[in-house]
Amino acid sequence: MTVTLPPIPQLECSPLEAARTVAREIAELVRARRAAGRGVVLGLATGRTPLGIYAELGRLHREERLDFANVTAFNLDEYLGLRAGHPRSYRRYMRERLFDAIGLPPEQCHIPSSDVAPSQWEAHCREYERLIADAGGIDLQILGLGRNGHIGFNEPGSGRDSRTRVVELAPPTRVDAAGEFGSVEHVPERAISMGVATILAARRIRLLAFGAAKHEIVTRTLTAPPSSDTPATFLRGHPDVRLYADAAALRGEGSPS
Ligand code: GLP
Repeated sequence: MTVTLPPIPQLECSPLEAARTVAREIAELVRARRAAGRGVVLGLATGRTPLGIYAELGRLHREERLDFANVTAFNLDEYLGLRAGHPRSYRRYMRERLFDAIGLPPEQCHIPSSDVAPSQWEAHCREYERLIADAGGIDLQILGLGRNGHIGFNEPGSGRDSRTRVVELAPPTRVDAAGEFGSVEHVPERAISMGVATILAARRIRLLAFGAAKHEIVTRTLTAPPSSDTPATFLRGHPDVRLYADAAALRGEGSPS
């Protein structure tokens, strides 16, 4: 039986327009929930792609007094095998790029640990899933896209039903991170990542991709039959997903960035 999944709505825009639009959507959600005396749970990503959103959220906090007191955040993933506070850890990235700028207290910022002992991997991952569930599930998940179609660190081979777990990083992922770590040998071999099912459980998903280097994988995400060969294709089954992408990512126009 062939299952036809709905297409992902695409919004062509510049990275700046995408950042402003998604940040505005988050701000509206935060304000509406606060007015109703409720909290908001955000799912957050790292990499270059969400930086514009984080800069805009910082601006909204500083200049428009957007208050994040009712926000709880869960990051998609973290490298494994880095000491706490390592400059390349996603925890450090999030503190420097967002959490400090919006005044989010540490107890409301959740990121898998980068230095869990192997004997504790399973329990740590189970606990992360439990924390998300206890918070009421993720209201809005920000997502970037790896060149090989990974979302979070769900590399090719990740199943539709996968949950938070320890993953082996694929060679292209480690190559892409080599610049940040100085060389590919210094890039961790493993990470802890929310699973595909964890991501799909978010009530809204906002996927962003910019630059011609993402064109091929954006095309595959939008058109290839959903399968674990390209985990991002599983997003096509989600009831409230949107893709924000520029002309280069959508149509391969311009030079790779
Ligand atoms: C890493 C992260 C992903 C991110 C991807 C793309 O692998 N774990 O969450 O989406 O990189 O990074 P960039 O946004 O820099 O292209």
